[in-house]
Amino acid sequence: MKLNLHAEATRLGGIFDMLALQPEDALLGLIGRFRADRRLGKIDLGVGVYKTETGSTPVMRAVKAAEDLLLAQQESKSYLGAEGDQIFTDRLATIAFGSEMAACDRLTGVQAPGGTGALRLGAELLKAARPHASVWMGTPTWPNHAPIFTAAGLSVRKHRFYDVARGKVDFEAMYTDLADASAGDIILLHGCCHNPTGAPLTSAEWRTLTELCEERGLVPFIDLAYQGLGDGLEADAAATRHLLAGLPSALVAYSCDKNFGLYRDRVGALWVQAATVPQAQIVRGNILARARAMWSMPPDHGAAIVRLILQHGELHALWSAELDGMRFRINAMRELIAAYHPRLHGVGQQRGMFAMLPLAAHQVTALRDEHAIYMPTNGRINIAGLTVENIPRLAAALTPYL
Ligand code: LMR
Repeated sequence: MKLNLHAEATRLGGIFDMLALQPEDALLGLIGRFRADRRLGKIDLGVGVYKTETGSTPVMRAVKAAEDLLLAQQESKSYLGAEGDQIFTDRLATIAFGSEMAACDRLTGVQAPGGTGALRLGAELLKAARPHASVWMGTPTWPNHAPIFTAAGLSVRKHRFYDVARGKVDFEAMYTDLADASAGDIILLHGCCHNPTGAPLTSAEWRTLTELCEERGLVPFIDLAYQGLGDGLEADAAATRHLLAGLPSALVAYSCDKNFGLYRDRVGALWVQAATVPQAQIVRGNILARARAMWSMPPDHGAAIVRLILQHGELHALWSAELDGMRFRINAMRELIAAYHPRLHGVGQQRGMFAMLPLAAHQVTALRDEHAIYMPTNGRINIAGLTVENIPRLAAALTPYL
């Protein structure tokens, strides 16, 4: 069918006849497939969105209240500029970095369309600053990481990170592979709640990585997309803060998609820490010019909501409490599933929205076809898709494969 489509397109000619067919995005494709499945009791462990015990993804109450406020208060939708809502970015910086670090003049930040926009903006900056640098990323990582950096024209190199069979981070292998990195190379790190494995680095390992970056002149690019969903807002930011405090230069891509539940509103920010204040000013000009060329200005609605939440004491407290509730539920589901089988024990110690099960692709397909259980082919499960009700059924379906 697809081949016919290609042949037909080529026969008809036009300027697009050289384009290759693109495979459907594996993760996003699951959304439609799950929706189309009519079987009762189907289980969605696919795309990373928070779900309640009844399987819904409601708008957070703090977000609804802020939206009411915005509707009542907003008097203009005139342009804000390529930096977006700077009050949003500055308030969010205090959540990510703490107030002292957020006030540092070597740190400059702008709003971006989601974590993906922030990563891409940072990648464009790096391509201009260090065109020949390699971007190192662990295996596995979020499937969109490599395409984002490649699209910006940077070369991507892989280091080992997670040992699926042992269900653990293989820090020694990671450290060994990074011996090939050169000064000025970039190392992409998940600040907390690793996607797709959920496997955390220990504080000692974060310290070792910071030292490695310092000794070898490597620049961390931290993807912080799940702050508050692992061990809490402060604990989840600790590694990022440690890296920034110990190193001259770093980049941080932040997403509010998960911790504010604003997925489709595309809310994020990019911060760059430069070695000196004048360098930070030059970096800022470069970021703004690149943002202008890519999206001109980021979408306002979601960022305005986050700003209002962070500006109002009551809304801030409500949001934190809701976020705590989400984290408690996720961690409770981890404990429950972990108790079902020795090979699942590690899931109880991992953090964030995901865990990666030791499943082969054909087993993932069988789980979908025979049990209506949906997950991406790499065996990643969205822990937030688990409920007290569906865990026994999932565990029973999994057991023959463990
Ligand atoms: C995920 O990993 O499921 C989410 O970050 C959604 C996405 O865009 O891939």
